[in-house]
Amino acid sequence: MKRPGCWKMLTVAMCMAFVACLQAQELQGHVSIILLGATGDLAKKYLWQGLFQLYLDEVGKGYSFSFHGAALTSTKQGQEIITKVLESLSCPEDVAPGRCAQLRGQFQQLSQYHHLRTSEDYMALSKDIEAQLEHEGLREAGRVFYFSVPPFAYADIARSINSSCRPGPGAWLRVVLEKPFGHDHLSAQQLATELGSFFREEEMYRVDHYLGKQAVAQILPFRDQNRKALDGLWNRHHVERVEIIMKETVDAEGRTSFYEEYGVIRDVLQNHLTEVLTLVAMELPDNVSSPEAVLQRKLQAFRALRGLQKGSAVLGQYQAYGEQVRREQQKPASFHSLTPTFAGILVHVDNLRWEGVPFFLMSGKALDERVGYVRILFRNQAYCAQNEKRWVADQSQCLPRQIVFYIGHGELGSPAVLVSRNLFRPSLPSERWKEVEGRPGLHLFGRPLSDYYAYSPVREQDAYSVLISHIFHGRKDSFITTENLLASWVFWTPLLDSLAHEVPRLYLGGAESGHLLDFELSGTQLRFSRPQLEQLVPGPGSAPKPSDFQVLRTKYRESPLISAWPEELIAQLAADIEAAAVRAVRRSGEFHLALSGGSSPVPLLQQLATRHYGLPWAHTHLWLVDERCVPLRDPESNFQGLQAHLLQHVRVPHYNVHPMPVHLHQRLCAEEDRGAQMYASEISALVADSSFDLVLLGMGTDGHTASLFPQSPTGLEGTQPVVLTRSPSKPHQRMSLSLPLINRARKVAVLVMGRLKREITMLVSRVGHEPKKWPISGVLPSSGQLVWYMDYEAFLG
Ligand code: BG6
Repeated sequence: MKRPGCWKMLTVAMCMAFVACLQAQELQGHVSIILLGATGDLAKKYLWQGLFQLYLDEVGKGYSFSFHGAALTSTKQGQEIITKVLESLSCPEDVAPGRCAQLRGQFQQLSQYHHLRTSEDYMALSKDIEAQLEHEGLREAGRVFYFSVPPFAYADIARSINSSCRPGPGAWLRVVLEKPFGHDHLSAQQLATELGSFFREEEMYRVDHYLGKQAVAQILPFRDQNRKALDGLWNRHHVERVEIIMKETVDAEGRTSFYEEYGVIRDVLQNHLTEVLTLVAMELPDNVSSPEAVLQRKLQAFRALRGLQKGSAVLGQYQAYGEQVRREQQKPASFHSLTPTFAGILVHVDNLRWEGVPFFLMSGKALDERVGYVRILFRNQAYCAQNEKRWVADQSQCLPRQIVFYIGHGELGSPAVLVSRNLFRPSLPSERWKEVEGRPGLHLFGRPLSDYYAYSPVREQDAYSVLISHIFHGRKDSFITTENLLASWVFWTPLLDSLAHEVPRLYLGGAESGHLLDFELSGTQLRFSRPQLEQLVPGPGSAPKPSDFQVLRTKYRESPLISAWPEELIAQLAADIEAAAVRAVRRSGEFHLALSGGSSPVPLLQQLATRHYGLPWAHTHLWLVDERCVPLRDPESNFQGLQAHLLQHVRVPHYNVHPMPVHLHQRLCAEEDRGAQMYASEISALVADSSFDLVLLGMGTDGHTASLFPQSPTGLEGTQPVVLTRSPSKPHQRMSLSLPLINRARKVAVLVMGRLKREITMLVSRVGHEPKKWPISGVLPSSGQLVWYMDYEAFLG
């Protein structure tokens, strides 16, 4: 039956829709997307597909588009490469093949290649865009420049865009930047400053593609939507530990020139895993969709991270890596790379929510499987009275309780959110997450899949497609701001510096590595669970092995010297301190211990904190040998080191802790404030005869000890027990116990570690009593005992 009225109506409706669409287009305008590095690997693998997905999602919604692939490749070759890439673009399953082909055709029409090199080329590109806009009568909405180029090219490109390729008035500019964003804090800051001179912060979109991964992007919404259930659980009382893991089976072959410079910590942990860490650890803002609020909470989380030490990391390198580097970079056979391809890191978040909860971050190449996840493992505080056979997944408190954001791959093969059934039934947005169908036989994290409420995305999306869509919509919450970036580098740089010469453990790669990379908590440190069987990276010459030596007891400057490998040395010193403490408390009811700052005592403090339960802490007074003139909360403060590595782990009464008064009347170490005299009075009031039971000193490469430097006008002699001094290195102002006061001690222990100390150790062994030149040579307790503790590197070289 013909119904002419109906056709008429339909035609009118279609026309109206078309006109509406045109109007909308006029209203919203035209967007030009310029992909720089359009012929590179990332572009070929993900970015063109992401741009096509954007087109599929946005076509007909009011914007018009043009896509400009740009690179240094010649026009002919570039065009060929891009034509090939565009032909291979695919549609999601829900787009019919015919429609897909049609849209792909349109996308191809809208895409063109440009050879972009000079600023004139950029100017020409801008002219092209403007001419097109004018020709088609379009209003410009904005331009996106996607930098898929190496960072050394950033500055020139940024300058060209800023000077000759910005969109016209009223239109936005968005520049998208790919990591690496620097190599350490300083270089990241320099790059940020440079980019900041060309672009405003809101114009920059720094990509961390993990923020586009569906499971990662779900962490905050999940925490938000399940606030009620999580409120009581997401804290140190309930969480046993958090694992943030990214394992890969691929190795670095073909990329070693990049990888040699970066290594796994810079490549994956500093960015991807750190972002995930902050999403788990941060306090939830009221509004999780406010990028500003999220950023503030993230920065707060960064501030709560405990500084990393050498002992926070275990490092590995797959065995074939060295050869790959030598081959790809034409290095001689004698070249040995120290670049880690595997790292396990222990992170602590020092705030009330997370104190004491270990966060394990781990990533590596050439491992046994490809998988990424964040696993929050809860403590089991219950005892289950029934026999194990009767434990039921959603009722028994004794089965493992965990929440897992499964980033992808692995046994499950897709992103997922898993919540143990004995925790709670989570709420997830049903339009985007669906329950996973049962997979009998599949076990995840020790439990059958059926033990979890398990959800996977309704439509799986590639991270880059997600992020490109967010860029288009101006959603800045999925990108890394400058502040966020620098906060992360502030956290990682000291560790990277301290590990620069560490030899990573060699592993075979794949399943063959066996348990060699397993690691475990040991006090406040991480260590490999199994000893390495042999020294796989040969050093120059044949280095002595620990077993070649016993603890060596001899004389140095006519006083007893104990020498050993660092671990044994520290163990010996800690045991001697404990013995001295026990003796002192038995004798006088108190133990007065004065400690130096710096890095050498850190392992000692950790050892004392974790292995010496017999130490009479409740009767111990802790004094500082010296202090830097910075506020006590400053990470440079010696007191901070004491706080981080010892005080927070032991029970010393607060009134027995004696920081140096370097910060009085809101200023630092002003003579008029008489801080040194105050400290001296405190000592004389509390320490019998001002004679410490034990003073721990170090020795600098210039022969300084405490904060008494060569040629110091104060503190080397005279009557002042505590003095203000100047250090040649920053921070220059110091407060220090004087040599005369140190020499009143019952026992003085001098701890000297590391190869860098070798020269001064040799020198000081030969000199007489010359404190002006070498303050350490003035250490000689008048009636007490002096003992030197040196590791083999400091003593034997
Ligand atoms: C990149 C790293 O950022 O992430 C690569 O540079 C790594 O080394 C990759 O392989 C892993 O990403 P995905 O998405 O495969 O987990």
